[in-house]
Amino acid sequence: MDVVKTVAEMKARSRALASEGSVVGLVPTMGALHEGHLSLIRIASGLADVVVVSVFVNPTQFGPSEDFGRYPRDLEQDAALAEGAGCDVLFAPSVEEMYPSRFATVVHVQRMSQKLCGAFRPGHFDGVTTVVAKLFTIVRPAIAVFGQKDGQQVAIIERMSEDLDLGVEIIRGPTVREADGLAKSSRNAYLSREERSQAPVLYRALEHARALYEGGERNALKVVEAVEECVESDSDAELQFVAAVDSKTLEDLATLRPGAMIALAAFFGKTRLIDNVVLE
Ligand code: PAJ
Repeated sequence: MDVVKTVAEMKARSRALASEGSVVGLVPTMGALHEGHLSLIRIASGLADVVVVSVFVNPTQFGPSEDFGRYPRDLEQDAALAEGAGCDVLFAPSVEEMYPSRFATVVHVQRMSQKLCGAFRPGHFDGVTTVVAKLFTIVRPAIAVFGQKDGQQVAIIERMSEDLDLGVEIIRGPTVREADGLAKSSRNAYLSREERSQAPVLYRALEHARALYEGGERNALKVVEAVEECVESDSDAELQFVAAVDSKTLEDLATLRPGAMIALAAFFGKTRLIDNVVLE
């Protein structure tokens, strides 16, 4: 595996790969790699000739009071893990090179980026779509793999890729969980012992929603309320939202149907966790 640290070198690699006719798969990450990221790298290596993993803690997607400064960074460990999962090129550019002081462009996906997490993290998805558009342009992948864990993010990126004819096929990888159901996340490391022991309530509540749906319940409001009740009665978490939306368009649903996503965000102390399930 090669580690590429400059945009110019990555672009030269991308050009060479394109002229050889190689199918390039990209897995964008912010590092602190865990089994969730590694599962996406494995999916990419099953679909592409060459797998590029980007590691870039993107400052523009963090709010002023969020955890950009303390986000975990360990490139050496990430490189070893990525290589083990099938990464061929690790692309780790600097903030200065990705965002020179003259940088002035924003890629904004209307409506979809303003709701759910976007309503509480202003500008967050603009930061995500701008950096992902840039990564797509630098790496020129045929496919890019994103996790269903960030269900709103992958839906927005699918919209962007189609709207701008970026020619990148977006693949969704399933959410990888801890044994107790908690979705793997770099931010789980921020949880205290007590918060960590309560955090699986989020997935239990979402599984309860799925069971209600499978038992025939189609009223989205009732299912959302059941999720709220489950989280609030079983933990000290502070729910930010629970919503039922279409997993592709993110439109609000009054009636549940296949493809509906039940998504939530909750605070355990200062740590914000998200999770979702897609109904079949
Ligand atoms: P990051 O949080 O590092 O996540 C990188 C990718 O891993 C995303 O596609 C995310 O959905 C996926 N992922 C995270 N936890 C997962 C899990 N438990 N199971 C499956 N996939 C999981 O998401 C970002 O970085 C950034 O916003 C990024 C897209 C890189 C743009 O900066």
